[in-house]
Amino acid sequence: MPIRSLSIKKIRNIAAVSFEPSERINIIYGANGSGKTSLLESLHFLGLTRSFRTNQFRYLVTTAEREALVFSQIDAMGNGQVKPLGVSRDVEGDVKIRYGGNNIDLSELAGLLPLQLINTDTFELLEGSPSTRRQFVDWGAFHSDHSFIQLWRAFKRVLQQRNSLLKCGKIDPVLRKIWDAEFILYAEQMTNLRQRYIDLLMPDFEEILLRLVGDLSITVKFSAGWDRKRPLDELLSECLLRDLKQGFTSIGPQRADLKVKSEGISASERLSRGQKKLVVSALKLAQGALFHRLNNRACVYLIDDLPSELDKHHSRLFCEFLEQTNNQCFITCVDPESLTAFWKPDTAVAYFNIEAGQLVPTH
Ligand SMILES: Nc1ncnc2c1ncn2[C@@H]1O[C@H](COP(=O)(O)OP(=O)(O)O)[C@@H](O)[C@H]1O
Ligand SMILES: [Mg+2]
Repeated sequence: MPIRSLSIKKIRNIAAVSFEPSERINIIYGANGSGKTSLLESLHFLGLTRSFRTNQFRYLVTTAEREALVFSQIDAMGNGQVKPLGVSRDVEGDVKIRYGGNNIDLSELAGLLPLQLINTDTFELLEGSPSTRRQFVDWGAFHSDHSFIQLWRAFKRVLQQRNSLLKCGKIDPVLRKIWDAEFILYAEQMTNLRQRYIDLLMPDFEEILLRLVGDLSITVKFSAGWDRKRPLDELLSECLLRDLKQGFTSIGPQRADLKVKSEGISASERLSRGQKKLVVSALKLAQGALFHRLNNRACVYLIDDLPSELDKHHSRLFCEFLEQTNNQCFITCVDPESLTAFWKPDTAVAYFNIEAGQLVPTH
């Protein structure tokens, strides 16, 4: 399983913490402000070099310190080969990622430690802007097809070029033809990968949703960002006048979205808070299940305050599902009693109490 040992230094109220997590379920409990979310943030930092709570990295580093560091031993490929992985970043933003004695870059890191986060921000998957849902789709496309990242980067470059030409207010037809040909090429290819990923994901999502919530009718539809029944070059020509006026390209993969509905109505408008939590969790758990099927590797799940918004019955269903997966889970809660009764005796569950940034294994 992925993370064998962890050492966290200078992240929020955690001055220095070292521990060996369970390969399966880790419950981190403590009072408000004790450092539970900070611990999950540290793991997120290890996998992605950034926080999920702030875009300003300096807030993640303990006040008056200069550099945050997380060091780990990980079995990234799940084959028993354990290697050291360390990530450090200073308040100026300089990042160092070292794996097995070598410097690696961020996209390599993202491939090593596939993380899934479930916290209050996860509601954004239903309530937030399309970019949150595109990120969700792209996580899957990235992890299921290695060509996706190149296509995505190439497309982004072409889109920027096209938009800067549009901003000038007029565009040479010959030049436009050249850029549009590239735009269409990458747009079609990356959209095929996105669509294929969603098609693969849906059976997992439906099965998990049924287990977590029972009979709740939810439909998820991928929308490419343009009407795919019509040729993209035709649509780009049709939109040209408007795009010149606005100074950006109004159709294409940069406008893709997922439409999540319940009984034909936007899920964000219709569902209760608890139902939303279960739907977004089912989406994220489906990603882990599919990732495991495609890559034969587990994900690391960071689940902040699992019991919040859920009644006891649904917390139990959630835990029972996690128990049957292969994922390594880091779950926080205020009261450990809310999560003790659910596990089978042979499941490797480790409990840690956190108090003022100090972590102690218990039970
Ligand atoms: N940069 C920082 N340096 C030191 N302490 C911080 C920093 N940022 C936040 N804190 C403190 O860390 C504590 C832990 O916060 P948090 O992990 O959100 O708690 P929990 O999730 O357990 O409720 C809080 O008391 C907060 O004030
Ligand atoms: Mg918290």
